[in-house]
Amino acid sequence: MEIKKIFLPESELPRQWYNVMPDLPTPMEPDLHPGTGQPVGPDDLAPIFPMPLIEQEVSQESFIDIPEEILEKYLIWRPTPMYRAYALEKHLDTPAKIYFKNEGVSPAGSHKPNTAMAQAYYNMISGTKKICTETGAGQWGSALAMCCALFGLECRVYMVKVSYNQKPYRRMMMETWGANCVPSPSNETKAGQTILEKDPESPGSLGIAISEAVEAAVTTEGAKYSLGSVLNHVMLHQTVNGLECQKQMEIAGDYPDVIIGCAGGGSNFAGHVLPFVRDKINGKDIDIIAVEPASCPTLTRGPFAYDFGDTVQMTPLLPMHTLGHSFIPAPIHAGGLRYHGMAPIVSQLLLSNLIRAEAIPQLETFQAGLTFARTEGFISAPETNHAVAATIREAIRAKEEGKEKVILFNWSGHGLVDMAAYEDYLTGKLSDHALPEEEIHRALGDIDPLPKPKQYKAGTIT
Ligand SMILES: Cc1ncc(COP(=O)(O)O)c(C=O)c1O
Repeated sequence: MEIKKIFLPESELPRQWYNVMPDLPTPMEPDLHPGTGQPVGPDDLAPIFPMPLIEQEVSQESFIDIPEEILEKYLIWRPTPMYRAYALEKHLDTPAKIYFKNEGVSPAGSHKPNTAMAQAYYNMISGTKKICTETGAGQWGSALAMCCALFGLECRVYMVKVSYNQKPYRRMMMETWGANCVPSPSNETKAGQTILEKDPESPGSLGIAISEAVEAAVTTEGAKYSLGSVLNHVMLHQTVNGLECQKQMEIAGDYPDVIIGCAGGGSNFAGHVLPFVRDKINGKDIDIIAVEPASCPTLTRGPFAYDFGDTVQMTPLLPMHTLGHSFIPAPIHAGGLRYHGMAPIVSQLLLSNLIRAEAIPQLETFQAGLTFARTEGFISAPETNHAVAATIREAIRAKEEGKEKVILFNWSGHGLVDMAAYEDYLTGKLSDHALPEEEIHRALGDIDPLPKPKQYKAGTIT
């Protein structure tokens, strides 16, 4: 019998995170202060983040030690197993070898605790009492709720309203871990009130929820804000995944030709692929694919421009692929992929042709999720199904080309609290969302007056 799971012993848990920034062929452009248009400095960020995270945000060190207290907590679920998907390969009748990294084994069910644990720890040692955050599908909010509980911090989560209603179990998980969860837009913040005045039926978006959480953090004594994706320090913490994968691929005696991850704000993708991006910069030939929803095609169609991370324009301007901070994506079930922007690191990798991007419609992702569940057994999160769908596309391509490719993908989370989405699919209630061109034009018009990065690149929206 061939080996199905590749485990790493606890002694092989990575002791450092990998920082791609010093290795990038073209340096990243700085984040800009929304008022002055000048590069943001540590003092600008100090009201919202603790200093160790601000330092990591701009660090040029290639490897950063993981503190012992975080390693201890990582051991609750890490190292995570890697699997060979024999049954899926057989079903697809492909010569490709398919491996996947299972990040769904964390207590919260996804990759999100890799950074939540680090962020809760650095806040705790910096004297923060309470962390405010946003969440889409609830994966990030539940991960942070769990990690705040483990480090004795209060946690307040603004959850995108459409997901709050679709996914009550994630709210219950947050409450079980002691966090307080409110649907966004809410009447509690000025940002929420502004949105509700314009559109009382607003389904919410990650951009709006970020505005609410930042406002709550800066107006509450002892509170800081935490972001579950997009920022450089989040990508850094997630590399614990890719570093484990490199060791596991070595044990398997293979090396990936293709690596795939879904991309919302970009963190699970970045964490999975960055150590391999380093190999690619050093000469390896790897096809690295970020997968996004066709209804929120940030990387495939959005320009590379400066834009706000939130809707109400409170955050610094980030150099990134964006659909415009006022773009509200269709209410697809993959709530964690409904974000107008993309991590500057992931955006820079695309500009430098180190990765490519693919957009997949909702129905194809759910069909892929069913195929995966009915072959490999695991029920994936709707976000993760985007990576599964791209993997199936690549495995079929390998068959057509007659090539024995090695494909590795990141199984970023399980879907056991997303079953309402599966029911909608199984009963024919789901549809693909036509891209509202006028809405994108309007939203991109809003970023026209903003400064342009040196590497500005127009999108492909006609
Ligand atoms: C399971 C899962 N995968 C992927 C994502 C997308 O986020 P990111 O691109 O930051 O990994 C999310 C976000 O909530 C998620 O819950």
